[in-house]
Amino acid sequence: MAAVVLVGTQWGDEGKGKITDLLSQDFDYVVRFQGGNNAGHTVIHDGHTLKLHLIPSGVMYESVTPVIGNGCVIDPKVLLAEIDAVQSEGISCERLTISSNAHLIMPYHRDLDGASERRLGAQEIGTTRRGIGPAYQDKATRLGLRTQDLFDRSIFREKVAAALTEKNDILDKIYGLPTYTVDQLADEYLAYAEILNPYVADTAPLLNDALDAGQWVFFEGAQGTLLDLDHGTYPFVTSSNPTAGGACVGTGVGPARIDRVLGIAKAYITRVGSGPFPTELDTDDADGDTFIRVGHEYGTTTGRRRRPGWYDAPVVRYAVQVNGLTDLAITKLDVLSAFDEIKVCVAYEHLGQTYTSVPGHQSAFHHARPIYETLPGWKTDISACRDFNDLPPAARDYIAYLEELAGVPVSLIAVGPQREQTIIRNWERR
Ligand code: IMP
Repeated sequence: MAAVVLVGTQWGDEGKGKITDLLSQDFDYVVRFQGGNNAGHTVIHDGHTLKLHLIPSGVMYESVTPVIGNGCVIDPKVLLAEIDAVQSEGISCERLTISSNAHLIMPYHRDLDGASERRLGAQEIGTTRRGIGPAYQDKATRLGLRTQDLFDRSIFREKVAAALTEKNDILDKIYGLPTYTVDQLADEYLAYAEILNPYVADTAPLLNDALDAGQWVFFEGAQGTLLDLDHGTYPFVTSSNPTAGGACVGTGVGPARIDRVLGIAKAYITRVGSGPFPTELDTDDADGDTFIRVGHEYGTTTGRRRRPGWYDAPVVRYAVQVNGLTDLAITKLDVLSAFDEIKVCVAYEHLGQTYTSVPGHQSAFHHARPIYETLPGWKTDISACRDFNDLPPAARDYIAYLEELAGVPVSLIAVGPQREQTIIRNWERR
């Protein structure tokens, strides 16, 4: 099991951080391949809760080299603050490796993210306002700056000047916001360059050489399948590809090298930001409230209350297909212990048609009416279960039902926030 890709199967916040934290100790490299500090992974380390936004979760382990791949966008100011926060917990960031091809988030990207959301008003995407979309936009239009640009002062100034001719016009003339000078941005970013220099490397050959040498590489996805720019609920998506193919593009490792693709699904579902969500429960719904309260469902990055809903099997079935999932991990199963009965959305209905996966047309998904099956709850504390057979029969039946609906095995089950509160059924460890 040399190369494993981990992806979220829903709208992010599936509990990927915990599973990555558990599994990454077996790997030599843990690599982020897309997104930036819009992500938020909560990792519990020696009783401390660490909120990571950009640094791969594997940073906790001395044997792991954490890598930020070329597909990521990096806000250096945020990254340096995160490095400080991690080091102040006594965890070394010495092995952290950053791709020289990763793009930089500039201050005007943050400004434009906020300004564009304000302009959209009621139609806002609900972004994290971290400048992610505008940074990827510049990457696509070839106006972006990459980490390697930081190490050539004249190239950096030239590229900033080229970008500012457009950005300052947009900031000033469209949004009435303050503009930037080349000196101002060069002073700030070239100071970061000195600190970042030891971390930056050409990471594609590094990872391919590692795989050639029989080392294990873990590709840590952020966000989730339905936030994917191509396969998600566009336009209510992020600006990168959190699906499994993104791991190849975002690191320079070819698809034939990937051994397993592990999809993380929460035992229910949540979403932050705007966009369609068939199983969403109203804000005054008692079950929704239980998900928020028992599952502590507030965004790691923005602190926003998440929108809760029952498990949506068509969403996960769709994720199985577009990611080529080989395995599923079900997280937060313990949260369901609070319910007498558990609902599972097995299909949608729209205009007399039944859908068992995400419909191809956005309107059908927007208006999809969930069709539920109701299963008995178990109403028992399962947080101490470590073996599948320790679970009450109703919980085992629930997992078996999810496997039947998804068509792939559930190889890991999380029953609490701690790393060891996990049932491992079919997963090779080292
Ligand atoms: P952006 O990635 O900041 O551009 O935001 C685009 C959409 O993705 C918004 O709906 C965000 O709430 C959502 N989003 C981005 N990152 C995450 C994440 O890590 N978890 C959940 N939602 C996210």
